[in-house]
Amino acid sequence: MIIQSKVRGFICITAHPDGCAAQVRKQIDYVRARGELKNAPKRILILGASTGYGLASRIVSVAGAKAATFGVFYERPSADGKPASAGWYNTAALEAAALKEGIPFYSMNGDAFSSDFKTKTVEALRKTLGTVDCVIYSLAAPRRTDKDGITYKSVLKPIGQSFTSKTVNTDKGEVFEITLEPATDDEIFQTVKVMGGEDWEEWIRLLVAEKLLASNATIVAYSYIGPEVTWPIYKSGTIGRAKAHLAETAERLNSFLSDKIQGRALISVNKAVVTQASSAIPVVPLYNSILFKVMKEAGLHEDCIQQMYRLFAGLFDEKGALKRDSATCVRLDDLELKPEVQFEVQRIWERINTSNLRTLSDFDGYKKNFLQLFGFECEGVDYNADVNPERPIRNLIA
Ligand code: NAI
Repeated sequence: MIIQSKVRGFICITAHPDGCAAQVRKQIDYVRARGELKNAPKRILILGASTGYGLASRIVSVAGAKAATFGVFYERPSADGKPASAGWYNTAALEAAALKEGIPFYSMNGDAFSSDFKTKTVEALRKTLGTVDCVIYSLAAPRRTDKDGITYKSVLKPIGQSFTSKTVNTDKGEVFEITLEPATDDEIFQTVKVMGGEDWEEWIRLLVAEKLLASNATIVAYSYIGPEVTWPIYKSGTIGRAKAHLAETAERLNSFLSDKIQGRALISVNKAVVTQASSAIPVVPLYNSILFKVMKEAGLHEDCIQQMYRLFAGLFDEKGALKRDSATCVRLDDLELKPEVQFEVQRIWERINTSNLRTLSDFDGYKKNFLQLFGFECEGVDYNADVNPERPIRNLIA
């Protein structure tokens, strides 16, 4: 079949297998060019392993350390002549590269929030990798059904008062003002349930109880803080509350792990990048378009793979020290938050409108980056060619 992009708001409902494979290959090549990470973990569980930061963590592990990986994600295989989701194709491509070199690679597709699925994953992990020396938690989801069967939904809203800001309609390339009404207490509570630390803690306590975390293991979850222009919708909003809960959870888990297995728990505060999750946050696509222009011009731009290589190198190989806020918090957003970068972002932010969007910001780069998440606009891919949408994930555990 011929697969073209079909964008609906902040999501693309199709994905291209060869384009996704090309994006994965590019990230593998980046890691290979940077060099081996000799001391990085050799057996690693990645929750949310198919796109964005979780995928980049898996690529760094496979290509940088030849690590055996077990990846968990929620993706759609190809069915009824329809293409699979991007995360499915990414995983199939990375698996093919890993298996070609004899690197163990296992995956499970399902709802990581559910207790049943956790139990099945633990059983499969025991039969495949056995104990792991690192767990990455990189889930981003709009809803979660917890172990009691209650479903919570996350919202992206300010807290306390409404917030009016510029934003961009990414389809039309129009800058306009939106007003976001403040979240109710219940919406705050539900967002913390979905994106806070509760599920992470359940996973880690289960893995320890099942003796699947090796001694000295490191566990990491990802967070974001960002600059003041986005604080009302991010750091001080509902998602920020969830991230604060994640940080508290890291402290609790750090004491627990240090007691039980001499392990450590960390939050890595990452840079803003274009992913399926971040595209859905109001205001952030406009901020990213401006940020990328400023960072590219200053030679400071990083995407998921550069960030994750830096994280693994800093945490495990001591190649380049990481900035730290505390024993449980490392900062990879140091370049994004450089005063000179943010000064320039703020200056552009005040002047940007529909007519100067493409000159004052990297909006075209943002859009290309977004389409590439789904395997479109990738160099060397013929989008008019007939392509088989079926790509097997060979070591997918049912
Ligand atoms: P993403 O949307 O690219 O990836 C989400 C992953 O979670 C995918 O692998 C998806 O399959 C998986 N997933 C979603 N629901 C699931 C479920 N119920 N069961 C199993 N797997 C599920 O997201 P992104 O942006 O990489 O986010 C990952 C983490 O990084 C989040 O905690 C996010 O807040 C954080 N982060 C993201 C930044 C950004 O700019 N995108 C910046 C800093 C931190």
